Amino acid sequence: MLQTIHDALAPFYLQVKFLHVFFAMIWAFSTAVAYSYYVKGAFLKWERNPEDKTAIQRRNWAIEQFDRGAILEHVAFPVLIITGPLMYWLGPWSVDSTWLMIKLAIICLIFVPMEILDYWLAHFGGNKEMLRKRNLPEKYEASIRLHWKFLKVTTPLVMVFVPLIVWLAVTKP
Ligand code: HEM
Repeated sequence: MLQTIHDALAPFYLQVKFLHVFFAMIWAFSTAVAYSYYVKGAFLKWERNPEDKTAIQRRNWAIEQFDRGAILEHVAFPVLIITGPLMYWLGPWSVDSTWLMIKLAIICLIFVPMEILDYWLAHFGGNKEMLRKRNLPEKYEASIRLHWKFLKVTTPLVMVFVPLIVWLAVTKP
């Protein structure tokens, strides 16, 4: 049965790879501009003037929009987690593919835990718009501050490990 599915899908390897690479682009860069040019600036201004009403409003608006914009990254990630193992199964890869094992270690140890918290902060219990509309100001403020701390910790990791896993996947050293 599995062999039949394998043989039926094998001719579509490059289509699966196209999806993998296309969604890797979306995953890697869809929030980059929003974070670098909207969120970071608004939060740094708020940190310098924590009581400034305009700075607080801009901070709140920016992070609520950022929650919404993260949907692209969060649709792309499951596509990667499905198409990657599919290529592993259909292609000439094995545990001897050192580049892939290092790539998977980085994904499992860094990106999976990071995305789990990111999903929660952006779309579930930590969603700022939902907390505001439910009139939960303490939870709203706490979630905004937790998200900012999360972004400050994860940004350096993203800047190092995203290029590294793409380099590993493309050059296969
Ligand atoms: C954050 C997640 C991931 C990113 C950003 C990512 C990125 C990439 C990129 C850019 C390529 C294209 C390399 C090329 O053109 O030669 C690639 C290839 C590949 N990826 Fe991923 N990947 C991810 C997750 C995974 C996972 C979870 C697996 C699971 C086994 C996987 C398995 C593969 C394989 C086997 C290839 C080689 C395809 C080939 O060269 O024919 N990837 N990946």
